[in-house]
Formats: sequence, C-alpha cells, structure tokens
Amino acid sequence: MKITIFGTGYVGLVTGACLADVGHEVLCMDVDPEKIDKLRNGIIPIYEPGLESIVSHNVSAGRLLFSTDTEEAVAHGEVQFIAVGTPPDEDGSADLQYVLAVARSIGQHMTGYKVVVDKSTVPVGTADKVAGALRAELDKRGEELDFDVVSNPEFLKEGAAVADFMKPDRIIVGTDSEKAEGILREVYYPFNRNHDRMIFMDVRSAELTKYAANAMLATKISFMNEVSNLAERLGADIESVRRGIGSDPRIGYHFIYPGCGYGGSCFPKDVTALSRTARDCDYEARLLNAVEAVNMAQKHVLFDKVSHYFGGDLQGKTIALWGLAFKPNTDDMREASSRVLMESLWKAGARVQAYDPEAMKETQRIYGEEPGLQLCGTKEQALKGADALVICTEWKEFRLPDFEVISEALSHPVVFDGRNLYEPEMLERHGLVYYAIGRGRNQ
Ligand code: UGA
Repeated sequence: MKITIFGTGYVGLVTGACLADVGHEVLCMDVDPEKIDKLRNGIIPIYEPGLESIVSHNVSAGRLLFSTDTEEAVAHGEVQFIAVGTPPDEDGSADLQYVLAVARSIGQHMTGYKVVVDKSTVPVGTADKVAGALRAELDKRGEELDFDVVSNPEFLKEGAAVADFMKPDRIIVGTDSEKAEGILREVYYPFNRNHDRMIFMDVRSAELTKYAANAMLATKISFMNEVSNLAERLGADIESVRRGIGSDPRIGYHFIYPGCGYGGSCFPKDVTALSRTARDCDYEARLLNAVEAVNMAQKHVLFDKVSHYFGGDLQGKTIALWGLAFKPNTDDMREASSRVLMESLWKAGARVQAYDPEAMKETQRIYGEEPGLQLCGTKEQALKGADALVICTEWKEFRLPDFEVISEALSHPVVFDGRNLYEPEMLERHGLVYYAIGRGRNQ
C-alpha cells in the first residue's frame, strides 16, 4: 500500500520505517530540509536501537522515501498518517497547531479519498478538529471529496520503539467508518497475522485510551515512589514490598519500580494534558494532579539526600553523576531527573562530573555553557576527584561496576542510587555508604 507519514520525529520515523520494512511504499514528509537530506542518506537524527539499519535498508530498497514537498506527500498515499509534534502549551494542554496545519495541507491538495490517521498523541476531540480543518479547505476549493479521520495512537517506548512497533501488544483504531476500518486492517495486516491485535472502537475512546494508558503507568510509578518515601520513614525496604505486591497478578511486576521520578516526552506531558482536558470539561482530576505532584517532588529526593549527607553545605563539592538520559537506551534528556538534580547542585555551589553512554551530545547541547558541568568520557573518569557518586539512569554498564574503583576514587565513599541498582550489603562489603530509594530508615 502507499502510505504517507507527516513528521519524522520518533513516532513518524519508526512508523514509516517499520511499515516500509513489511512491504508498504512509504513516503515520510518533514518541513526540515536538512533532516530530510540526512534521512535520504540513512542518517537518523535520534538514537534508537535498530532504527538506523531499518531506515537505510528500506531506503536502498526504494520502499522508504523522504520529501519536503507537501503536495507530493498528499498525492502519495491513500493513507495519510499525522505524526507531528504536539508540544505542551504554557498551560499544559497539547498544542495542535502542527497537527491542524497538516490537516489543512491535506485538504488543500487531495484529489481523491484519503484516510487521515491521527498517530500523534492528541486530546480527545482532535479528530473532529482535524476533520473540520480539512473540510474547510475542501470547501474553499469547492470540492466534495470523501475522507475519514481515524485515531490510531502509538504505544512505542523510546529505546524499544522498533520492537514495540513490530510486535505490538495492541493496535487501537478509533473509527466509525467501515471503509477506513478495512484500509487500516490492511495497513497492519503483517503485524496481525498470528492473532488479532487490533481493537476497534469509536474515535473519542481511542483518543482517551492513549492518555489513560500513560496516566495509568505514571500513576503506578508515583504510587510506588510515595510508598518508597513511606518505607524510608518506617524502616521498611521498598524492594521487598515491590516483590511482595508484584506477586499478586492483579498488581503485576511491571512498572512498579521506584526511583528518582519519571521523565521523558510522554508521561509528564500526557498526565498534565489529561488533567487540563479534565478541567476544560469542569472536572478536577485530583488523582492525576497528585501523580504529577508526587513525581515533581520525587525528582528532588536525590538532591535532598546528597545535601543532607554533606550537612547542607555543598559549596565547592564535586559530584560524579552516572546517567543523564531520562531512561536507558536513549539519548533523550526531556524531563530527565538528572536535570533537576544537576540544576539544584549548581545552585547549591557544587560541580558535576557527568557521564552517560548516549546522552553526552544532548547534554552538551543543553548545558554546554554551564561552568559547573564537566562531561567525562567514561564512568571512571567521572569519579576522579569527586566527593560522592549519584546514579540517575539504570544503564546496563552501571549494573555491576568495580566497587573498589569507586570507593578509592571518591573523597567520601558514598553512593546515592536513584534507581535501586544494588544490594546494600554488596556496597557495604566494599566500604561504601549506600543511599537508595525507599530502602530502610537510614535513607
Ligand atoms: C511511555 C510508555 O511506556 C509507552 O507505552 C508510550 O507509548 C510512550 O510513553 C508514549 O506515549 O509515546 P517512554 O516515555 O518511552 O514510553 O518511557 P518508559 O519506558 O515508559 O519510561 C518512562 C519513565 O518512567 C522513565 O523515566 C523511567 O525511568 C520511569 N519508570 C518506568 C519508573 O520510574 N519506574 C518504572 O517502574 C518504570
């Protein structure tokens, strides 16, 4: 099938590359000519395991095309995916200007039936707005062409996006059109052969499903973070509690890892946007607001522990920091806990020596001018001359470091672990003082 994707960010590029990989003829459109030029040469702007090889393979095979030409993009596919950004407005609601601009472009250039698929995370009711914007353009042209607007939210995790797309848990499609349903079934047929993963529903339910899924996951994390704060005050160990409750299949082991707060481009943005949507329909989403508030507070927990350890005086201290990305296997720093920590440390007069396997360039881009930051080439270099070590991201290479090296390098042999990577006894054996999240009274 011929498919057009508007937007070559995470979602657009992964969707385009994976659809091309199963045989569709995909054209990805972006307004940024430099980005399109690089993509045509197989250079991808983000770090995402497996994506580069799929892109270059399908570009060579001629199934994955890139363009900056809107008219060409609209003409290409009967199916038109909208996968452009929806950055949060100042008030936390999703900014739809890019989505609606694409809708207008489709309306300006289409010459026959199109299925327009909302892939971006958009508030409930957006499909109606997209249809309205598109129809207004058709009216201007005096055309009465047929089209359907479908909601098909994505559930990709950064760092595992290709695998998530290729083996989806579910494919949600919101539409009331049988014609669009048939076309979407064909688009996703290759991912759906072994058992039916497609769930069809009305458009608004599909739009809400996306937010509900992310809000539920964020709720699980904030809940565990809250209990971990309680565990510290009660002298209990959250890791035992986690295993204890996870064994109940109604609760499950997934997504109940306490830590120094969730980040990324999705949870913080989507929880706020859903809460904002609630307010717009005169409902106060108290639980969602609390999920967000608990998370904001959790991002300060590591700083509080470090500051407390040094008696409230961090002036002139050097803190080694392992992990800058908001989670492993990505270079994404959006809403990362490491940022809150570093900014608090600088404010308190401390320096940071940081290392991350992938996010160094991104950190340089964001904080290049910051005098209190030194970016280090290895995790060992980050330790040199430092007073303490803090871990913000659970990269594999941090899972079993040489504890002797850590304890020798630090002026104070102390580790603050925001992801509960180690067993306290293990570090004690190597003479290290260990602070983690929610692990007993001394935390
Ligand atoms: C999230 C969802 O997991 C995807 O299903 C969804 O498609 C995506 O948002 C989206 O809306 O685009 P992502 O933001 O890539 O994916 O990252 P996650 O793996 O969900 O992690 C989010 C944050 O939660 C990270 O900071 C991670 O460290 C934290 N986390 C996760 C915890 O603190 N504890 C956990 O148990 C799990």
